[in-house]
Amino acid sequence: MNSLVVFVITLWLTIHMPGSEGAENDRPIVGVLAQEISSFLSRTFTDKDYDSYIAASYIKFVEGAGARAVPVFINQPRSYYENLLNSLDGVLLPGGATFFNQSNGYADAAAHIYQIASEINDNGTYFPLWGTCLGFEVLLYVSNNNSEYRVDCASSSQSLPLEFTAGYETSRLFKNAPANVINILKNEDVTPNFHMYCATVDGLANSGLNNSWKVLSVNHDWNGLEFISTIEHVKYPFYAVQFHPEKNLYEFVKKKNISHSADAVTYAQYFADFFISEARKSTNNFPNDTVENDMLIYNYAPEFTSKLGSSFEQCYLFANNGSQIFTLSAKLTLLLTCILVLFHRP
Ligand SMILES: *[C@@H]1O[C@H](CO)[C@@H](O)[C@H](O)[C@H]1NC(C)=O
Ligand SMILES: *[C@@H]1O[C@H](CO)[C@@H](O)[C@H](O)[C@H]1NC(C)=O
Ligand SMILES: *[C@@H]1O[C@H](CO)[C@@H](O)[C@H](O)[C@H]1NC(C)=O
Ligand SMILES: *[C@@H]1O[C@H](CO)[C@@H](O)[C@H](O)[C@H]1NC(C)=O
Ligand SMILES: *[C@@H]1O[C@H](CO)[C@@H](O)[C@H](O)[C@H]1NC(C)=O
Ligand SMILES: *[C@@H]1O[C@H](CO)[C@@H](O)[C@H](O)[C@H]1NC(C)=O
Ligand SMILES: *[C@@H]1O[C@H](CO)[C@@H](O)[C@H](O)[C@H]1NC(C)=O
Repeated sequence: MNSLVVFVITLWLTIHMPGSEGAENDRPIVGVLAQEISSFLSRTFTDKDYDSYIAASYIKFVEGAGARAVPVFINQPRSYYENLLNSLDGVLLPGGATFFNQSNGYADAAAHIYQIASEINDNGTYFPLWGTCLGFEVLLYVSNNNSEYRVDCASSSQSLPLEFTAGYETSRLFKNAPANVINILKNEDVTPNFHMYCATVDGLANSGLNNSWKVLSVNHDWNGLEFISTIEHVKYPFYAVQFHPEKNLYEFVKKKNISHSADAVTYAQYFADFFISEARKSTNNFPNDTVENDMLIYNYAPEFTSKLGSSFEQCYLFANNGSQIFTLSAKLTLLLTCILVLFHRP
């Protein structure tokens, strides 16, 4: 009898101990930021009023590591990002080709996301950000108070090993990386680069960004200019790479110098797994399955865009800021109407 009581109390404590807040979230949901429609996509889909898109490789990058994805739209007020991020477990800022000066565009959305993600972390909930290529550039840009720090450079279709900086092995991003991943990254031409702007070590120091971001690797562009290729935030679980691990895994358009070797896939999957392992530390979730279902990327079907000439195999295309915002509010309006009708029945 006594031992049963002890057992039950022990079980209860095990389940309810404050220490169990570190339990892994095994259903992580990550936001992926959309961006302004590219001129290629708007020329190709002239009959549709698409205004934003997400290359499907970024969605697959998080899905392939065990997360579900939610599109995060541009051109929205801060309240939209605040509500959404408080239900998500992290956000990925993809690469692409948009200017930071377009009002209510990608960079404005990224500024909201950076501020809100910092606040969520300050408020005690673990909330990671991942930036790839333009996402790397925009994270530094918004943490530089929306001011420019980049220089022009030439790194298109460049496939490179990383040049790690001193102390990289103590970084959060690399300290638990398997030896074979580090060997591949150090020695093989595997990281695909497609960028016309670069962040430099001097640029970071001149803007003071070196106090909040740690440089983990550099590389050299086609002209020998040194640029930063991997960073992590000093205080927050924010990470960014100038190269494209998702292209090794999911982009197969030819003549782009993208390695699809087994080793390239191994290193790329390491980064996806790392980001999602960070998202598993977040305890955010949607209020219920209805809201969650309305937000998931499964509400959209990607187009097979590479056969139309795009360098992306597949893209998700969105009109009217993503219609599901309106689907949801339409549903809420319907619900409210039903309640009002019920209460006002004669
Ligand atoms: C935005 O920046 C680009 C590149 O610097 C420039 O060509 C363009 O004119 C700028 N647009 C606006 C609205 O300032
Ligand atoms: C952080 O917590 C403060 C105080 O509770 C709250 O006002 C604020 O909205 C929270 N921030 C976010 C982004 O949720
Ligand atoms: C950030 O930018 C705003 C607007 O340009 C400016 O008023 C403010 O002083 C800047 N803050 C810092 C810390 O540079
Ligand atoms: C791919 O990139 C590597 C490293 O920059 C370079 O040596 C090689 O020539 C490139 N290959 C092609 C086909 O562009
Ligand atoms: C950032 O760069 C400035 C200027 O070079 C330097 O004084 C400062 O010590 C650097 N901060 C860190 C954390 O390295
Ligand atoms: C789900 O949550 C939303 C927002 O909190 C609420 O409006 C809605 O009534 C809830 N739906 C269900 C089925 O509980
Ligand atoms: C997109 O959302 C913004 C902000 O809510 C709004 O001003 C704009 O009219 C919307 N655009 C479309 C095409 O619905």
